[in-house]
Amino acid sequence: MRSPNPKIYGHVERFVPIEVNGQVFEVPDGIPLIRAFQYIQFELDGLVCDWTLFCFNDTIGCCDCTLTPPGASAPEPGRACCVRVAPGLRVDVLPEGCRLSPPATEEPAP
Ligand code: FES
Repeated sequence: MRSPNPKIYGHVERFVPIEVNGQVFEVPDGIPLIRAFQYIQFELDGLVCDWTLFCFNDTIGCCDCTLTPPGASAPEPGRACCVRVAPGLRVDVLPEGCRLSPPATEEPAP
């Protein structure tokens, strides 16, 4: 695993698992969820988001998603720019314009 750029992700103390649409990713603890989506996209190749759709400042609801916070029993609406990563956070529905990357296809054996 590459070391995350501290100018983008801040000082990373540890990585914690979050679940996104049923897939588990290890991301820096405590960062905004929207930044974790970027981490998953650019560092783990696990997500594709159209970042031109995002305001990044809690203005227009462009990062609305459905989440299950750690310890919660039911999903609830949330904004990825306002929620921070914590161990066990689950993203049930990604914001519009984001989707998981398709799994890498394996080369057929010769
Ligand atoms: S990034 Fe626009 S409301 Fe969160």
